[in-house]
Amino acid sequence: MSGDPLNGTTPEIAHRKGFYFELKAGERYLWCSCGRSKQQPFCDGSHKGTDFSPLKFKATRDDELLFCGCKNTLTGPFCDGAHTNLPGGSPLDDPESPENRAVALVADRNGPRAHLNGSCYVISPRLAEKTTRGNLSYAYLVNAELGSLYQTQILLEVSGGPSPIIGFGEREVILFIGAGKGNATISGKSFPVQTTDGVYIRPSEGLQLEADPGETLRVFVLACPFGELEWLEQMPDNFDSGQEQRVVCVDAEQRTEMGPRYFQILVDKRIGSRVITQFIGHIPPSKAAPHRHLYEEAIIILSGEGCMWTEDRKAKVAAGDVIFLPRKQLHSLEATSADGMDVVGVICPGDNPSINYYD
Ligand code: FES
Repeated sequence: MSGDPLNGTTPEIAHRKGFYFELKAGERYLWCSCGRSKQQPFCDGSHKGTDFSPLKFKATRDDELLFCGCKNTLTGPFCDGAHTNLPGGSPLDDPESPENRAVALVADRNGPRAHLNGSCYVISPRLAEKTTRGNLSYAYLVNAELGSLYQTQILLEVSGGPSPIIGFGEREVILFIGAGKGNATISGKSFPVQTTDGVYIRPSEGLQLEADPGETLRVFVLACPFGELEWLEQMPDNFDSGQEQRVVCVDAEQRTEMGPRYFQILVDKRIGSRVITQFIGHIPPSKAAPHRHLYEEAIIILSGEGCMWTEDRKAKVAAGDVIFLPRKQLHSLEATSADGMDVVGVICPGDNPSINYYD
């Protein structure tokens, strides 16, 4: 889809984000691909005289999805995130606009949490209640009790010898090594790990962590669907050798640009994860235009400072904090540090952090 916008070979950008829509099973839809329709995201016949034709789509089940509004998607009629790299850049928001100046700062915390709109919150793990088992301490940061539908996020800290053996039942699990160096043993197979690595554990496999001498391993665990840690007497002998690669490292060559931001996918379906996707990214000093996602997300702030905004609340965030973002929650993450912020995000269920919408 490229060419001269004046001769009908380039689509017009109708909307710079996806259009949220609730499909009905058996209904047919005619998606506008030229961008000229006045009935977005659907065709009103305005493509006549251009090189474009509307795309027919029949829903096989009741569902909700995002139709592409920018008409640059490669997976029409659906949004594939191409709108984040349109000419003219990604839409930003002015934190000093009159509307934004009226947004209240949540200064009070409920324990470790600052509550925003919906069930969105910012949690400081250093203030969270920790439980100890042997040489392992752990704290639940995201779970059903705190508003999550799909995931549990737990912070583990281990030093001085092998940790107790942990099971996760039939859940998919992704780890992020927040600090330290050591080994992650997955159902008997050991992998060296270090800060910023992502690690994938298949359902029913066991985990044992061991920090190198003098190190403390700080590990964020994200399990889907949600559930509690299980303590195993012995390491299960069920490493899935059909999926040998389990550790993904940061690699600048693998970055995807997203306007002025960029991200690198760490663990996702390429190494077997079916419902969870983990990425590491950078946000330059800026405030993204408010938007929503169809997935649930947990974001760990790795460096820098900023602000998490929802409809009429905002909370400061800094390195070490974790943000829980429910599905469909309007939000905008602003980096205020001169060097921006580095973050790790885990989306669930989902596989593309560029896909979003605004209505
Ligand atoms: S709106 Fe076109 S790719 Fe998202």
